[in-house]
Amino acid sequence: MAIKLIVTSTRPRRNGVDIAAAVAPLIAQGAGCDVEIVDLREVALPFLDEPEMPAMGKYTEPSTQAWSEVVKPADAVVFLTPEYNGGYTAAAKNAIDTLFHEWDGKVAAVVGYGWGGAGRAVPQLETIMGNVKMNVLEGPVLMSFGEHMTDEGLSVEPMVAGYGAELTALGKRINQAIELRPEMQAA
Ligand SMILES: Cc1cc2nc3c(=O)[nH]c(=O)nc-3n(C[C@H](O)[C@H](O)[C@H](O)COP(=O)(O)O)c2cc1C
Repeated sequence: MAIKLIVTSTRPRRNGVDIAAAVAPLIAQGAGCDVEIVDLREVALPFLDEPEMPAMGKYTEPSTQAWSEVVKPADAVVFLTPEYNGGYTAAAKNAIDTLFHEWDGKVAAVVGYGWGGAGRAVPQLETIMGNVKMNVLEGPVLMSFGEHMTDEGLSVEPMVAGYGAELTALGKRINQAIELRPEMQAA
């Protein structure tokens, strides 16, 4: 079983990577399998530059083909999203728009972080994930900074630990959705 946790913030100094490192083992614990972190900064997709609509599946750019090979084998994807000015990141939208069929039926979930747990960004992201036919699990995990964000920065471990039960439960739900998938496809 392959679960990929997609880090969608790409700025050079970001909390997203440290948060991912703390979140991945908790989801893995619930799911009973490893969770691979995929960092969109490292993926470094250009802004959509395919001549055809990705829905045609005729990719010309090596970057698109490589991104497709990352997403395709995943049984589930979890988008880790901050909130930027009330929305999700441009990198997340670009990463989704660059592919199409790869997302179809993919078990998917969202984990948000921010002052209000990225509560404004997450529903927007879930909407577009549903639009490319991901099987988006209800009940995202919304992690609020609260007292863990100070002038010294974010204390990632304690913040994430506060959502430990929710994150392991999410892992379990992802596992169950993956297990159910062949049945649903056969029906
Ligand atoms: C461009 C930008 C816009 C932001 N807008 C919001 C916002 O709307 N809501 C919020 O809770 N935090 C906002 N913040 C603060 C982020 O929650 C915080 O910087 C977080 O660490 C961003 O994730 P990152 O470090 O992984 O990029 C914003 C930060 C940036 C860089």
